[in-house]
Amino acid sequence: IRTVGGHVGVQLNYVSHEIVKEKPALPGLPSTFPGEEDCDTLILHLEDQTTGLTAELIYTTFEKVDVITRSVILKNTAEQPIYLTKVMSACLDLDCTDEKYDILTLHGSWGRERQMERRSLMHGKQSVGSVRGESSHQEHPFIALLSENATQDTGEVYGMHFVYSGNFLAQAELSQFDSIRMTMGIHPENFVWKLEQGESFAAPEVVMTYSSEGLSGMTHHYHDMYREHLIRGEYRDKKRPILINNWEATYFDFNTDKLLKIAKQASKLGIEMLVMDDGWFGHRNDDSTSLGDWKVNEQKLPGGLKLLVDQVNAMGLKFGIWFEPEMISPDSDLYREHPDWAISIPGRVGSLCRNQYVLDLSRKEVRDHAFESVAAVLHSTNIEYVKWDMNRQLSDLGSVELPADRQGELYHRYVLGVYELQERLLAEFPHLLLENCSGGGARFDPGMLYYSPQIWCSDDTDAIERLKIQEGTMLLYPLSTMGAHVSDCPNHALGRVTPFETRGHVALAGTFGYELDITKIPEEDRQQIPAQTAMYHKYNDLIRRGDYWRIASYLENGSYDCYMVASKDKKEALITYVQVLSRPNFHSRRVRLKGLSPENRYRIEETGEVLGGDVLMQAGMLIAPLWGDYRSRLIHLTEA
Ligand code: GLA
Repeated sequence: IRTVGGHVGVQLNYVSHEIVKEKPALPGLPSTFPGEEDCDTLILHLEDQTTGLTAELIYTTFEKVDVITRSVILKNTAEQPIYLTKVMSACLDLDCTDEKYDILTLHGSWGRERQMERRSLMHGKQSVGSVRGESSHQEHPFIALLSENATQDTGEVYGMHFVYSGNFLAQAELSQFDSIRMTMGIHPENFVWKLEQGESFAAPEVVMTYSSEGLSGMTHHYHDMYREHLIRGEYRDKKRPILINNWEATYFDFNTDKLLKIAKQASKLGIEMLVMDDGWFGHRNDDSTSLGDWKVNEQKLPGGLKLLVDQVNAMGLKFGIWFEPEMISPDSDLYREHPDWAISIPGRVGSLCRNQYVLDLSRKEVRDHAFESVAAVLHSTNIEYVKWDMNRQLSDLGSVELPADRQGELYHRYVLGVYELQERLLAEFPHLLLENCSGGGARFDPGMLYYSPQIWCSDDTDAIERLKIQEGTMLLYPLSTMGAHVSDCPNHALGRVTPFETRGHVALAGTFGYELDITKIPEEDRQQIPAQTAMYHKYNDLIRRGDYWRIASYLENGSYDCYMVASKDKKEALITYVQVLSRPNFHSRRVRLKGLSPENRYRIEETGEVLGGDVLMQAGMLIAPLWGDYRSRLIHLTEA
C-alpha cells in the first residue's frame, strides 16, 4: 500500500475468524460456487491499526473436490485514502528444504497457445505474467510446482490457477533458506487502486490444488472443479450443437446466398448450427473498419438479418453470430461521434493493433452502449449462439473519466466492465450459448469460463499443431470447454495437409464443429461428415463427463500422441491415437491404458476382442503402425 503520506508499510494482524457453510460470491468478479454438496469457508479477519486497512482472507474447501480456493477483500476503515499498489490473491509458503522442485507453466503465441514448459526452480523469483490487459496468448494464469521426480501419474504437484481475465502475475521463489513461496494475483505493474474511507477491494480468486498422483491428479481436480463449480448455464451439462462457422470458409467475402448454400449442405450432413463470423455489419469488408457499428450490412445481407435467420432455421439449423463488442475502429460512426470512448492518453495518438482501438469499458455509458448494440441485434431475430471476440491487447492506458490518482485502476476496471457486460447478456438471454474468443485463445481462462461454457482454443486449426495446444489446454480445462473445428486443407495457419479423418478425431476432443466451405471441399471429405457427426453424438456424453487421461505426448516424444477418456463408472472408454510421422519397418506401439477398473473386462468395439482392465492397464494394447503420416485411430471400449 501507499498512504497519503507516501509510506508503504503495512502490518496485518489477526483479529478474529469464522467458519461458514457457504461460499460468499466476490462482488463483480467470477468465482467458483458450491454445488449441492457442502463447502466450508474460513474467513480470517485481519487489521492494520496504523492505517485502518482491514483484510479478509477467504479460504473455501469443497466436500468432493480436492481444492482450496482463496481470495482477499481489503477495506479502508480510516478517514484518509489508502492506495493499494500490489494485491496478491494467494500466497503459499512451502517449508520443504530437502527436495528439489520444478515449475510448470503454459507458454504461447498466436496460433501456438498453452504449450507446456517445465524447468527447475532455482534460487530467486521465477514468474510468468501478463500486462496486456487480457490473460494473453503468451503466458497463462497458471503455475504448478512439481517435485523433481513427478511424472504424468506419480509425484507431488501444487497447482495455482487464477479465476481472472486481465493482467496477472504467477510466481515461485526459492529463498535463501530453500523454502518456497508461490504467489498469484493481479500484476502490480501499472496497478494502483485508491480506497476511500469505507471502500473495499475484492481480489480475484485463485484455485489451488495438491496432487500426490502427478499431473493427472491435478488435472482431475481442476476438471471436476470447473465442471461442477465454475461453468454455469443450461449448456453446462448438455451436448453443444455441432456448428459450421464461415470464417475460414469465406473470411469477409460472403453474402446471404453463400451462407444459405453452406447451410443447406450442412443441414443434410448432420450439422446443427450456422455461425456467421466477422464482416456482417457496417461496411466491413476487411479488418480496417466498422467495429462499433453493429448494424447489418444490407449489401451483403439484403433484406436484413431476420430473413437470413428464418431461412436457416427453416432448414432445421440454429443460427449463431460473431461480435467484438469491446472494440472500436477509427473508421466507424461510433468513433466519429465518440472519439473519447477509446482508451487513450490525451494528446497522444494511440497505437493501432489490427486497425482498432479498445473501448473504455470502465465507463458506464460506454458499457451501456456496447450492451444495447449487441442486445438489439439479438432481440431482432432468433439467435441462439454468440461468439464474443476480443482481438487486441490494451495499450496507451488512459480514461477521460478517471482522476489522475485513479488512472492506475483502468486495467482492472476494464476487466470488471467485460464481466459486467457478459453477466448482463446472460441475464437478458438466459438460453444463449456464449463462446468466448480472443484472436484464437488469448483469453482462455477460468474467469471467462464462468460466463461461457466453451472458449475458442486457437486460430490454429491444424490437427497436428492442435495436439500440443489441446494437451496444454486439457491439462487444466474440461474437454467440454475447448472450441475445436474440422477445417480445410492445406491448413490456413501453416499449409499442412492432413487426412479429413484425423481432423475429425482431433476436433472430437473439444466442442466439435466445422470451419470450411462445405460446398467446395473434395467429395470424399464431404462424404465423411455424416459419420463424423454421428461419432460426435455417440461419444460426446463420455467426453464431456468422463475422466481424461494422458497416455503419450507428441509435444514430448515428437512422434505420436495418445489420450483417453474413461467414464466415471469405469464402464466405457475412448482412446485417441495419432501417429504423427510414419516410420518404415517399425514395431507396434504398446499403449498402457489408464483409469479402467482392473476387475472389469472390456470389449474392444473394432475387433470384438475382450480383455481385462488389469491387462489393458499393466500390459497394455499394441497399436500397429498406420499407413502414412498424420494418421489416427479411435478405440472404443465397453464393459463386456
Ligand atoms: C479472431 C478469431 C477468429 C475470427 C476472426 C474474425 O481472430 O479468433 O476465429 O473470428 O477473429 O475477425
